Amino acid sequence: MTTWTPVAQVGDISPDTGTLRVALDGEAVCLYDLQGDICATQDRCPHGNASLADGYMEDGTIECPLHQGVFDIRSGKPQCPPVTTDLRRYAVRVEAGTIYLSAE
Ligand code: FES
Repeated sequence: MTTWTPVAQVGDISPDTGTLRVALDGEAVCLYDLQGDICATQDRCPHGNASLADGYMEDGTIECPLHQGVFDIRSGKPQCPPVTTDLRRYAVRVEAGTIYLSAE
């Protein structure tokens, strides 16, 4: 059975960056507002010690703030060096403005 955990309100996502760092089961997760489509991936860049919530979001991608590796947010796939590992993705549900995540 899927367990959904409330982590934030849609309005908590910064309109400036389009991202928000939250925690789920002790893991840092980055939320993204893709023009109303809320997505979630691991927040820690798999290449190093950087928070993707501090990165630059554009056209459905997130650019890591440390070495400018780029990921597709919806698929989690790396788009250019130096990143080569997929991001872990989380299932997202939005109800009455509350964002719920599932790690399953
Ligand atoms: Fe993200 Fe190096 S830490 S690209």
